[in-house]
Amino acid sequence: MSWGLKNRLNRIIKPKTGKTVMLAIDHGYFLGPTTGLESPGETIKPLLPYADALMPTRGVLRTSVDPKTDTPVVLRVSGGNSIIGEDLSKEGIITSIEEAIRLNCAAVALSIYVGSKYEHQTLLNLSKLVDEGERYGMPVLAVTAVGKDMARDARYLSLACRIAAELGAHFVKTYYCEDFPKVVASCPVPVVMAGGKKLPEKEALELTFNAIKDGASGVDMGRNIFQSNNPVSMIKAVRAIVHKKASVNEAFEIYK
Ligand code: 5RP
Repeated sequence: MSWGLKNRLNRIIKPKTGKTVMLAIDHGYFLGPTTGLESPGETIKPLLPYADALMPTRGVLRTSVDPKTDTPVVLRVSGGNSIIGEDLSKEGIITSIEEAIRLNCAAVALSIYVGSKYEHQTLLNLSKLVDEGERYGMPVLAVTAVGKDMARDARYLSLACRIAAELGAHFVKTYYCEDFPKVVASCPVPVVMAGGKKLPEKEALELTFNAIKDGASGVDMGRNIFQSNNPVSMIKAVRAIVHKKASVNEAFEIYK
């Protein structure tokens, strides 16, 4: 890894704690106006100071994020699908590495769909993106999207995370599952937990706590923050667990 790539990665996964709280707001690339992101600028503004990194598409970044921010950007660069399209796994690269550099991004993110119809295409997307990332010193985050008929168990997620790492992803985002330590132990690069669908706040904090306890290098959470009744309090609570080793109850007090 070049100095530049390491420096970019350290802007996301904080060296002081070795952890990150990423705010995922890239949902619209295939879901359109997701609840809570109808007006992305309004949602993002109050949360930005508490996010270690932001994960938008280029369109939301350009239109809805203040360029004065010093929050690093992990740019969603795979897509070309939609929730009403043929198959969610049919993704290509939708933003070039030059564009990510022009947007001063700290990393790029793409989804891989292991076990889905277009698995091969998404894995080649990852491989090409890693080649480019290495060339320009741009870390690549592989998001292990789960095909609709896949079980989010340790066996499947270990397979997906390890394939991502073998193909050169610099860090991986996946879901929490039983035996999560096995997923982390068999993945040679940092694993960040995806928040997943909206849960009651306390449950989302328990998920965060368990993921960190089980070796995750942080979270990349979207709906569980911006669809919460109080998003700023929720991201503060998540930060307390991730960076200050707070308990679930302590974090829930912060949320309340
Ligand atoms: C697809 C994605 C999502 O758009 C987003 O990152 C998910 O975040 P969350 O599940 O926490 O709302 O990357 O896999």
